[in-house]
Amino acid sequence: MRTFLRFPPRALAALAAMSTTIVLAAAPQDRGAAPITLAVDATKTGPKIDRNLFGQFAEHLGKGIYEGVWVGPDSPIPNTRGIRNDVVAALKVLRVPNVRWPGGCFADDYHWRKGIGRDRQAQMNPDWGGVIEPNTFGTHEFMDFIDQIGSRAYLSVNVGSGSPQEAAEWLEYLTAAQPTALQKERAANGHPEPYLIPYLGIGNENWDCGGNMTPEHYLQQLKTFARYSRNFNPAQREGDGRMLKIAVGPGGGGPRWTEWTDVIMKGWKARQWSWDMDGLSLHNYTVVRFPPTFPSVGFGEADYARILQAAVEMDSIITAHSAIMDKYDPEKRIALVVDEWGAWYAPLPGSTPGFLVQQNSVRDALIAALHVNIFARHADRVRMANIAQMINVLQAMIITDQEKMILTPTYHVFRMYLPFQDATFVPVAFDAGAYTHGDITLPRVDAIAAKDPAGTLWLALANVDPNRPATISAHVSGLEARTAAGETLTGPAIDSVNTFEAPKTVTPRPVTAQVQGGRLNVTLEPRSVTVLAVRP
Ligand code: AHR
Repeated sequence: MRTFLRFPPRALAALAAMSTTIVLAAAPQDRGAAPITLAVDATKTGPKIDRNLFGQFAEHLGKGIYEGVWVGPDSPIPNTRGIRNDVVAALKVLRVPNVRWPGGCFADDYHWRKGIGRDRQAQMNPDWGGVIEPNTFGTHEFMDFIDQIGSRAYLSVNVGSGSPQEAAEWLEYLTAAQPTALQKERAANGHPEPYLIPYLGIGNENWDCGGNMTPEHYLQQLKTFARYSRNFNPAQREGDGRMLKIAVGPGGGGPRWTEWTDVIMKGWKARQWSWDMDGLSLHNYTVVRFPPTFPSVGFGEADYARILQAAVEMDSIITAHSAIMDKYDPEKRIALVVDEWGAWYAPLPGSTPGFLVQQNSVRDALIAALHVNIFARHADRVRMANIAQMINVLQAMIITDQEKMILTPTYHVFRMYLPFQDATFVPVAFDAGAYTHGDITLPRVDAIAAKDPAGTLWLALANVDPNRPATISAHVSGLEARTAAGETLTGPAIDSVNTFEAPKTVTPRPVTAQVQGGRLNVTLEPRSVTVLAVRP
């Protein structure tokens, strides 16, 4: 049985005996089952859960950008300067902290000049379905999009097929405040003020689709691109607001990837004054194997358990890379940036090959919650993450069909977790119990806690078991709780999804825990994610 017990049993007993203890005890429908015991000491705080952990990724891939975001100003679909209004309204709710663009593999095929001005030059999109990329959605349209949703730019420059000069000129075009030729060109294209570019990715997967480089070769590219990709915006030259540069990091766990992390971190440690970096990316999908064969809908419990087993592997992968980073960077200056994560299933039957179209079920809600919980537990090193991808691609927030739009279970989890953005991590001690199916055993329950600036304690609880409710008995000290209420998300089956015909099959419902003489009662439904506010 795997456990996340972080306090010794004696400490748990002591916590339980304290006068301020709150007990989340059995609700009637779980009568007789052994409760899962949780202990939260609200006075013991950890690192900030950076809001950037809730970042997203929008690539020129399938209907991610075209139709998902961009319909054009002449579309009958309601839009603002070509960007669809329904999608903007839905994303604004999520307070998306940053959006990674234009790829992915597409970033290393992208030449920014084709996407500015009146004369847009169509190009091929060779990575994703071999379709034509019209470049009607380019730099200005992306910056308008993130402005409309209230987010911030995380651009990836083209290292694979581009040049340091092309990257340098894109940055100057975007950020120069003084009247250079590129600043004037940007002004003529409608934006005299310099843009803010807080995050810059130096390439994408240059170990594979980005040029199949060795770590040593990439390290040299990193030094060159990091040197010449300058941000000229006076507000971003130095200090806290300066642009952060993120290097290409590993593509999973295992020796090939730990070697990659070692080479880049060692190179960083020995750096000269002329270059630096602030983050190292990690890509790891919940996929089991490539090419992906697991269906996104219409699956049974064996697939459910196998996919969730793959999801929780994220924890050991982060632990392995963090240990190497600690060797070269004990002060944790370099963030581990998990800028591609999420479930990658077999394409939906009948969908366009290469468009990475899949459905999003109750299982994906659990994948989302388990990942965010893992990131939060590593919040001292993992300070940014981007789910793949935002709309219509892989583990999406939103699915569209022409003028129609639905919100996925993953969207709902991101919405329920909003209070965790920039909240302070509070350790939770618990024995997770076990969920077993066939030869797979997983922690039955997962939990994190955090405190927001107003003093509210937030609990996120996941019941992985698809069949049994879980009775939670939590001892909360350091806070005189009077109410505990929030939302819970589940569906009729493990593969329940939202569709255009039934868009609310998997939708959050309010949940109120009973508070009686310092006792709080809650039972988690099978296959569910719950977020509770515990208020004094
Ligand atoms: O998200 C889909 C693809 O997965 C990205 O383009 C690439 O970086 C990764 O391999």
